[in-house]
This record gives sequence, structure tokens and C-alpha cells, in this order.
Amino acid sequence: MEEDEIEEQQASQPNIGGLHNDAERYLEAYQVFLEKCESEEEMTKRWLQDEGPGLVARCKVPAKTAFNVLGMGSGAGHFDAIILHAVLDKYDQVFCRVVEPREEDIDQFKHLLEDDEQLKTVAFEWHQQTDEEYFEQTFNDDTKFHIVHAIQLLYYVDDLAGCIKHMYRQVAEGGLLVIIHLSDQTGCSNLMKKMNKFLPDGDEQTPYRTTAHIKEVLDKLQLQYTTDRLNVNTDITECFVPGSETGILLLDFLTHTPHFTDTVDPEDQREITDYIRGPDCSVEQDGKILFNNSSEIIVIPKLGDASN
Ligand SMILES: C[S@@+](CC[C@H](N)C(=O)[O-])C[C@H]1O[C@@H](n2cnc3c(N)ncnc32)[C@H](O)[C@@H]1O
Repeated sequence: MEEDEIEEQQASQPNIGGLHNDAERYLEAYQVFLEKCESEEEMTKRWLQDEGPGLVARCKVPAKTAFNVLGMGSGAGHFDAIILHAVLDKYDQVFCRVVEPREEDIDQFKHLLEDDEQLKTVAFEWHQQTDEEYFEQTFNDDTKFHIVHAIQLLYYVDDLAGCIKHMYRQVAEGGLLVIIHLSDQTGCSNLMKKMNKFLPDGDEQTPYRTTAHIKEVLDKLQLQYTTDRLNVNTDITECFVPGSETGILLLDFLTHTPHFTDTVDPEDQREITDYIRGPDCSVEQDGKILFNNSSEIIVIPKLGDASN
């Protein structure tokens, strides 16, 4: 077989669950998804604006010490900015370390700072790295952070328990680890369970993680936490409009599968899209199909006498 034929054949193989390995397609699909669930961004922003000051107030920071924030998988930094504003309302000296592997995201984050006089007073340190690279590099670094946050990140880390353990280790005594992630009680988590059936045999690593997996790790580590919920519905009507490019990208994101409609077996596609439209995942309202993908906020305090 010619090389280009082999490439073509590989390109048409389904890569179920592999969207995060296809950076370009991932970004395209994530953008469309975000546009359709404006409410998620809005709800997260509102939660952080309302609850951020309370989180900052809970942190115990020794006098004359900078308030340190660690953002893991910060993306373009929109949520980081809200947290940092809440910190700046109470503290003059703020240090923020950002861990984000995508150069474009870091550039966008820096761009966001250009128009924000208050954020310009924050001392930033940029790590264009994955969580694993970062934790390896900082293994002997004893900098501690009063807030460590991971917002919609933990789907993408290879070693979930390792990442949580390392993040917690970098929390200062009296500080908080804040995780925002897809809830285990949503249409979306039902879909993830369903998608497991279609993963290639022996594929142990799954991106279909919910807060159930995170809580399991926290319980094993015997860490106490509180939770709050962000109720979010996403308009996925376009998924059922034949030929809609938006619908095609939305399906890629929902199933976490690049080029879902071109590569997945038609019968499997039908089973999956029927399930997405069905009562386990969605409701129909005012002519729209609304997919339930609520998130949960998990706040893990590091108590004064923590030995980890
Ligand atoms: C869904 S986005 C969330 C971005 C941002 N926190 C937000 O909520 O808008 C996930 C982010 O995690 C980053 N990411 C992916 N794998 C990562 C890893 N192994 N370590 C750190 N960040 C990662 C991606 O580049 C992306 O910016």
C-alpha cells in the first residue's frame, strides 16, 4: 500500500476518546462547545465572583507575606483573573504561577493582562508545561500556595491521583485546593459511562472522568472537602441538523472523538447520538435540545496541622 493510502486509512480510523490528542481539532470543538454553553462560562464566572472573596478570606496568610496562587491548566486565564482580583482586594503583594502547556493560551493570558491595570501588579511566573513536567521540575521546590486551582483540567492529566497529590502538597498550611470539574450526576457523566463501551480494548486511560473519580482519590487520601454545584445546560440542537458544521464539532467534543461523524461506525454513531438526545442526557425545551453538563466545585482545605 502507498504511504499516502496508509495515511488516509489511518486518518479515517475512529479515535474514540482521543480528542485531547488532536490539539487543533480539540480547540476548534472546544470553542464551539463554549459558545453553546455560554451559561457554563457565565455560571463559573458568577460563582467565582460571588464566592472568590470568601475563599480568599478563608486562607490563612502570615503577616507581611505575599499571597501565592497556583493556576494549573489555566488556559487563557479568564477565571484566574477573577480569582486574582478577589485576592488583590485584600492583599497588596500577590504572586501567581501559571502552569499551561499551550503556548497560544499563555499568549492570550498575557494579552488579557495588558488591559488590566490591577493585574499588572501581580508577579507572574509562567510554566509552559504539563502537570507532570511541572511537578517533576518543582519536586524539590518548597514554594507553597494559598490557593491552588484546577478548573476543568483533570480530564487531561495522565495520572489523576498523582496530580491531586502533588497539587495538594504545594498548598500552604491554611490554604485551599479548588477543583472545578464535570459533576458525576449529569447527562454528560451518563454519556461518558456509555462511551466507555466503545473505547478500544485494553485502553485503560480514559478522558471520561467526573467528580466521582476525583472524590474517590480524595477519600483514599483521607482529605476533607466541601462541594457546590454549577447547574449548566448546553444547547446541542445543531447536533441533529444534518450537515451542520457546528453540530459536527459539538459531537466531537461531547464524545471526545475527533471527526466522530466521519470515522465512527454508522450504527455506533446512531446508538450514541440517540443516547445523547435521550432522557439520560438531555431535555427538549422550547424546540431546543438541552444537554445537562453541570459542574461541581470541590474545595479542599489544608488544615494547619497537615503533614502531607
Ligand atoms: C478545558 S481547558 C480549561 C482552561 C481553563 N482552566 C478554563 O476553565 O477556561 C483545559 C486546559 O488544560 C490544559 N492542559 C491539558 N493537558 C494538561 C496537562 N497535562 N497539564 C496541565 N494543563 C493541561 C489545556 O491546554 C487547556 O488550557
